This record gives sequence, C-alpha cells and structure tokens, in this order.
Amino acid sequence: MKQELEAHILTKGYMRDSGVLCLNKSDGSRSRLQANQSAFGEKWKKVVGHDDLAPVEAFHRAWYLKLYGFSDEEALRSFVARQKVILDAGAGYGFKSAYLASLSPDTLVVSMDLSESIYLAAERYGDVKNIIFVRGDIASTPLPDGSVDFVSCDQVLHHTIDPAATLAEFSRVLVHGGHAALYVYAKKALPRELLDEHFISGRAQLDHDAIWQMSRKLTELGRMLEETNLELDFPDIPELGVTGGRQSLQRFVYYNFIKCFWNEDMGFDASVSTNFDWYAPSIAYRFSQDEFEELVRNAGFGATYLHSEKACHSGMFTKGDALTN
Ligand SMILES: C[S@@+](CC[C@H](N)C(=O)[O-])C[C@H]1O[C@@H](n2cnc3c(N)ncnc32)[C@H](O)[C@@H]1O
Repeated sequence: MKQELEAHILTKGYMRDSGVLCLNKSDGSRSRLQANQSAFGEKWKKVVGHDDLAPVEAFHRAWYLKLYGFSDEEALRSFVARQKVILDAGAGYGFKSAYLASLSPDTLVVSMDLSESIYLAAERYGDVKNIIFVRGDIASTPLPDGSVDFVSCDQVLHHTIDPAATLAEFSRVLVHGGHAALYVYAKKALPRELLDEHFISGRAQLDHDAIWQMSRKLTELGRMLEETNLELDFPDIPELGVTGGRQSLQRFVYYNFIKCFWNEDMGFDASVSTNFDWYAPSIAYRFSQDEFEELVRNAGFGATYLHSEKACHSGMFTKGDALTN
C-alpha cells in the first residue's frame, strides 16, 4: 500500500527530496501561507535538537487522549489499529505521526506539513517503515478521493487560510464513515482577543527573532505570576468577557489579558516555544464553541465526541454522520 500511495503522489507533480515527497514548484501566490509556515519552520528548528523533548511529548500524548475522547492509550491503540491509512495533517516535526505509527505497525501514516519541519520529521523518523512524509498544503493534498480512514489534524485547522476549504479536502480524501480529530483555538476575553489580533494581523511589526525574545520575557512573566502562588476570587466582568471566580493569578491574567504561558513540567524552552507559537503565525483564527460546531457540521461531519477547554475546542468527527451531541 505504501508503494502504491507514493507512486500516486509522484504522479501529482511531487518529487523525492531527502526522504520527503514535495512539490517541484513554489507557488508565489500564496505568500500569506508561506509567511505563516516560516514561523513554524523556525520554531521547530529552535525546539528540536535543543530541548529535551520527552516531557513535552509525554504531555502532548496525554492531552491527545483527552482532546479526542480516548480513555487511555489502549483505547487509542485499538482505534488506530482499525485504520488502514491515517493522514497526520500538519504534522510539525512528526512526533505524533511516529507515535500513531508505533501504535499500529500495519497502519500507514501520511505525515504532511507545509513547513520545513517535515524534513526534521523525515530525519528523525525516516527509519519507521509505515510512514510517508509529504511537504504540502493540507487544504490541497495529493491523496486520492476516499483513500484515508482517519485524519488527525491536531492544533492545525485554525492556522490554515480557509478552515472550511481544509475540511472539504479532508472530506474528499476520507472514506465514507471515516474519522477526523479536529482542534481549534477558542475565543477568549476581549482584552486578550484585542492584543492577540494586534500580533496575528501583523500590526505589531516584529520579526521572528524579536517575537522569540518577547516570548522569553512572557514566559518569565508567566513563571513569576505562577510563583506568587496566589489564588483569589476574581470578579466577572461580562462586558469585557472577563471570567472571574476562584483561580490562580497566572490563569486569570493568562485567559483574560495576555498569553504568558508557563508550564514547569515542560520547562522554560518549551514554554517559550509555546508562546512563540501563539504570537508568530500570521494565520490563527479563534472560534466560539458554536462557530466550531457549525464549521464542522457545514463540512458534512457529525460529532462523536466534543471537548472544550478555555484554550481550545476539539472533538472526534465522522464523515457523513449527523451531529449527535
Ligand atoms: C501548532 S503546530 C502542530 C503540529 C502537530 N500537529 C502537533 O500537534 O504537534 C501547527 C503545524 O501545522 C502546520 N500547518 C499550518 N498550516 C498548514 C497547511 N495549510 N498545510 C500543512 N501544514 C500546515 C505548521 O507548519 C505547523 O507545523
């Protein structure tokens, strides 16, 4: 199956380059998309090879179960084993592609990303037999109609130019009844949204190095707020969408005013890269729960599992099913 799919991709104008199937031409018309990707390419280069990734990956594996409704790793393993072909759409440096591939050696994983990170993925996991690495836009894949059983699109959809068009592509490549794990950023309080929009729209006019330096300072701020160990009863300010109640000072500031991520288990550098991830991409839409459900429903998917946190909405969806919850 691997050879067949690779041969098909090669007929679509792709060529082999350092273990990656990539397009033979650059498309100058998509400059906003390219700018968005260079943020990710730079981020992955900074993170991979400089950090101890084990704690971050452990965090993300556990979070993946929660985001998509798996009670434990065994439940995920048995789900993955029932999928013949998985598309890891927006794979970054490929660790989740490799994780899914390791859970079921008979499943073929297509690991796809538009940024240079896919070369890191091929370098790190090129020995894994059941993965194909593809560089390209997940809104326009070289995969045949109905050739994929499961699309895992973890923390990516909101970074695509037109999420509805991306979902239409997922629908095209999925078999009827195929599954999609989808995640989008949640809308936050008004002060946070205004500040975030300032950066995402490019009005802040900072280059990536400056954003990286700023992310270090914001990580420091997050750590300082956390280390106060202050937990208070904050007021609700509905006019500003500010949610109060009993919470730590760091969480109150973080969700209502300014993203200043800090996670002690992940460590300083991984926290910096999480902040960079937020401020650098030029495409990062945020959705309310209703907007997310409508987007997915309009693309012809039904929900089998929905999950919401302050930071995100996610769920497991089935092509062609009515919305069940
Ligand atoms: C926040 S990272 C998530 C990576 C990975 N899914 C994970 O959960 O660790 C977003 C990734 O999506 C990729 N991406 C964004 N838009 C894309 C597009 N249109 N086509 C392919 N990849 C895209 C970026 O290059 C980046 O590597």
